[in-house]
Amino acid sequence: MKKKRILAVFGTRPEAVKMCPLVGELKKREGLETAVCVTGQHREMLDGVLGTFGVVPDFDLDIMKERQTLFDITSGVTDGLRPVLEEVRPDILLVQGDTSTAFAAALAAFYMRVPVGHVEAGLRTFDTSAPWPEEFNRRSVDVMSSLCFAPTRRAAGNLLAEGKERAAVFVTGNTVTDAIRHTLKKDYSHPVLEWAGDKKLIFITAHRREILGGPMRGIFRAIRRTLEERPDCRAVFPVHLNPAVREEAEAAFAGCGSIRLTGPLDVADCHNIEARSYLCLTDSGGVCEECPVFGVPVLVMRGRTDRPEGVEAGVTKVAGTREEGIYEDLRLLLDDSEAYRKMSRVCSPFGDGHASERIADVLERGECEEWRPEESERRTDETLRDNRQ
Ligand code: UD1
Ligand code: UDP
Repeated sequence: MKKKRILAVFGTRPEAVKMCPLVGELKKREGLETAVCVTGQHREMLDGVLGTFGVVPDFDLDIMKERQTLFDITSGVTDGLRPVLEEVRPDILLVQGDTSTAFAAALAAFYMRVPVGHVEAGLRTFDTSAPWPEEFNRRSVDVMSSLCFAPTRRAAGNLLAEGKERAAVFVTGNTVTDAIRHTLKKDYSHPVLEWAGDKKLIFITAHRREILGGPMRGIFRAIRRTLEERPDCRAVFPVHLNPAVREEAEAAFAGCGSIRLTGPLDVADCHNIEARSYLCLTDSGGVCEECPVFGVPVLVMRGRTDRPEGVEAGVTKVAGTREEGIYEDLRLLLDDSEAYRKMSRVCSPFGDGHASERIADVLERGECEEWRPEESERRTDETLRDNRQ
C-alpha cells in the first residue's frame, strides 16, 4: 500500500516542543512517510528543542532576522515553502498552534491545494487584538484545515460552533503533555534550584508582542516590589531572546539580588525547574498548560486566556497586565496558604501524554479513540505525577 506523505512544518520554540513528540510517533508508523521542514522563525530557541528531542529537519528555511517583522516572517515562509511543497508533494501538511509560521505555512499549502492538518486547533479568545496576531493566525489556519486536532472538548466545541464539520474535528489532548513525558526527571538538580534553596521560587516568563513597552514595565515593577518585600522568595526569569524583552528585563531588575535572569533554558531544564517552583507568573501559552501537571499555580499575565480549562480546574488565574493586579495576586498566593493550597492541585486539563498517538492514528487510519479528560483525571501517567520532590 502506498504510504501517506506527511510534511510537518514548524519554526518557533513552542511549536517545536509540541511537534517533536508527534514527529517521533509519526516516524514509527508503517503507513506514513514523514518529512520535517523548519522555517527557522526562531533559531537558537528552536535548535535547542530539536537537539533535546533528537529531531533532524529535512528542510530548513532559515528565515530569522534580528527584530523581524510579521511581514518578514509571512513572506519568508510562503516563498521558502513553495519549492519544498513542489519537491515533497505531501498528502497532508501539518502545522501547530498560532504562530506566523503556522499561518503562512498553512496558506502556502492552501494555495497549492495541499490539505492542512492543524495541531492544537480551536483555541480562542474571540479577540483578534489579544493575543496579537495569534488569534487571527489560528482562526485562519482552522478555516484552511481539513483535519483539526483539538486539544480539549472546549476547543472542539469552538470549531463546531464556527461550522467546522464534525468529521474533521478530533479531540486528542495537547502534545505538550507528551513532551513532558520525555523531559521530566525524578532526580534532577540545577544551579538555579541550588541558589533558591528552601525559598519560594517564582518561575517567570514574558514575551508577548501586545505587552511589550508600558504593560511589561508595570508587570516587572510588580514583581520587583514583591521580591523586595519578601526575603522568603526568589525568582527565575529565563529571558526570551527578543531584544525588546531583554532590554526591558535587564533595566527593570538591575541590582535586584533575588531574581536570576537567565537566557532561554533548555526545554528539559525548563520543565524540571517549573515542576519544582512554588508558583508561576507567565504570559506563555505552553507554560500555562505545563504547570498544572506539576501542581504549580499559574498567574497569567494576559487580559484573557485562550486556555480557560486551567481556570475552570481552579489551578490558573488570569491576573491581567496591570501592575497593581499582578502585585495583589502574587501577595495572595504568597500570604494565604488556603488560596495557595486550592491552586496547587495536580491535574492535567490539557492532555494525558498520548495526544501524538491519537493524531498519528487519524493520519494513518482516518480515526482515533478520542481523549476523555474525565478518565485521565483518574489514570494520568505515573511519570506525570509525584514529581515535586
Ligand atoms: C513568536 C510567535 C509567538 C510565540 C513565540 C514563542 C508569531 C507572530 N509570534 O513570537 O506566537 O508565542 O514566538 O516564543 O509568530 N530571537 C532570537 N533567537 C531566537 C528566537 C528569537 O534572536 O532563537 C529574536 C530575534 O531578534 C527575533 C525576535 O526574537 O526577531 C522575535 O522573534 P519572533 O519569532 O518574531 O517573535 P516572538 O515574540 O518570539
Ligand atoms: N520554554 C523553554 N525554555 C525557556 C522558556 C520556555 O524551553 O526558557 C518552553 C516551555 O516549557 C514551553 C514553551 O517553551 O514548552 C513555551 O514557549 P513560549 O513561552 O516561548 O511560547 P508560547 O507557548 O507562549 O507560544
